[in-house]
Amino acid sequence: MYYSDDLVEEVRSRNDIVDVISGYVRLQRKGSSYFGLCPFHSEKSPSFSVSRDKQMYYCFGCGAGGNVFTFLMEYEHFTFPEALKTLADRAGIALPQGEASGEEKRRQSLKSSVMELNKEAATYFYYQLRRENGAAAMRYLKNRGLSDETIHRFGLGYANIYSDDLYRYFKGKGVSDELLAQSGLMQADEKRGMRDKFWNRVIFPIMDANGRVIGFGGRVMGDGKPKYLNSPETVAFDKSRNLYGLQFARTSRKKNLLVCEGYMDVISMHQAGFTNAVASLGTALTSQHASLIRRYTDEVILTYDSDEAGVRAALRAIPILAEAGVKARVLNMRPYKDPDEFIKALGAEEFQKRIDDAQNSFLFETDILKNSYDMNDPTGKTAFYEALAKKLTGFEQELERETYLEAVASRYRVSPDSLRKMVNSIALGGMRARRGETPRREHKERAEQETGVQKSQKLLLTWLIEYPSLYGKVKEYLRPEDFSGEPYRTAAKLLFAQYEAGELSPAGIIDHFEDPQEQSQVAALFHQDLQVNSDAERSKALREALQRVILASLDEQRAHLDPTDMDGLQKLIARQKQARRLPQIEVR
Ligand code: GTP
Ligand code: MN
Repeated sequence: MYYSDDLVEEVRSRNDIVDVISGYVRLQRKGSSYFGLCPFHSEKSPSFSVSRDKQMYYCFGCGAGGNVFTFLMEYEHFTFPEALKTLADRAGIALPQGEASGEEKRRQSLKSSVMELNKEAATYFYYQLRRENGAAAMRYLKNRGLSDETIHRFGLGYANIYSDDLYRYFKGKGVSDELLAQSGLMQADEKRGMRDKFWNRVIFPIMDANGRVIGFGGRVMGDGKPKYLNSPETVAFDKSRNLYGLQFARTSRKKNLLVCEGYMDVISMHQAGFTNAVASLGTALTSQHASLIRRYTDEVILTYDSDEAGVRAALRAIPILAEAGVKARVLNMRPYKDPDEFIKALGAEEFQKRIDDAQNSFLFETDILKNSYDMNDPTGKTAFYEALAKKLTGFEQELERETYLEAVASRYRVSPDSLRKMVNSIALGGMRARRGETPRREHKERAEQETGVQKSQKLLLTWLIEYPSLYGKVKEYLRPEDFSGEPYRTAAKLLFAQYEAGELSPAGIIDHFEDPQEQSQVAALFHQDLQVNSDAERSKALREALQRVILASLDEQRAHLDPTDMDGLQKLIARQKQARRLPQIEVR
């Protein structure tokens, strides 16, 4: 769905950022801004600021920032359309339905046709399971310990033994081959034409968080291969963005989600009362899954199979979850293979105990790490402690790091002092080595690498919005093209254009950048913090910043000037002179 800039602007302007963020963060007024504890990193004193004038937020600690849309996208892990919808609802603005582009409309309509078809197919499979033909399938499910209620709740079904059963059914209803192919329920076979994807299998409908059927899994009843078939990706089915069982788990009222591997695991956990179980269905957990999870909880218990593949999957999932702000614990299923087997053997009560005892993900990782070192050999042992120390440097917060340090020191029998020394020396050496790949949370370190010109550019942008009368005073000297690098230049162009149009809206500038990370960078441009207080100091700082930016830009232009362009050269020289003799400009 495409929304016009005007509409986006209207929704934004009718949702005051201070009011919206106040619903999430306790804010206190300090001068012209509001401050609170940053929800995007852990801190003890408030460096998270929200400005009513700018309609932006910015954290001076971690560099997170943006406008009211960015906030919801980052905090709630909403997509832009979701953030827009939420805020439109909040302000009582009805979003137009008809604004989609032709392409998008076709996609939407294909998607609803496919969903409709899926629903019919699910109903058909459900019905087949309860007929005479489905008796063996029903027996299979019962033998696996599923109750009638569970079978009904998950909408389980059966695909008949004929490879064109569903095809004929849909043909009888006049559905086109084209739509059938798009649905993933059929495959076009060169020799025989359209065939059903699923036949003679138990069917597990896959639903999205709202309970709409988006795809299917089908299991052989017995030992045939492949054990499971899954719908291919379609307009309605994106494997990396959906979790099996989420339609129930999201309202389970438990404080965490149990994440496992398979259909049967989810179903038996739900049957045993663990209605907060979901599965990522054969594919590894993705960052989209993690964002989806973060909407509902900040803690996951990984209940992957206890074999080597399960351990590997857990090791892969932990950092992906952490990145999305989800803590993980790892459940020990041994001596059983998966939740389904465990619950069948030991029951729900024992499983609950394992949930309560699930291991902290950091200790899970370090235990595994230890396995790859020879702890009987002094060299091996030292290497393990070094690796451990390196891992500890990953904690940014000192208190947290110290807590973990003590825990692992006693766990692996090493003196906390020597481990601490190792950690500190690695942390020091790493500062220098790590440059270039700094993630956003280490914004402060990156700020140190900023060039003088960049700092000056930020100062100009910040002051230009903080002191609207400044624009008229500097536009004679400064042009948006003088700003170099992105997002500086684009932000400057948009800001200048807003002034020219007489419609200053700094928060609107942020909407021109798509990615929340970019939006944070743009917010940073408007939050340059210079500790100058007197009018004279500000005036001096402005002059320096203007000169630095303009002269750097002129140097750059001169380097790229056509040597025969005398006229161009004259102009450059004139601007240079002008910049060197800037008058005193008051910043207020
Ligand atoms: P049961 O044997 O029925 O208990 O299945 P399970 O849930 O224990 O399955 P398993 O642990 O073997 O696999 C976990 C998940 O991976 C399954 O639920 C499927 O989503 C997927 N999967 C397993 N086998 C296959 C296969 O042969 N092909 C495909 N495409 N996916 C599979
Ligand atoms: Mn199993």
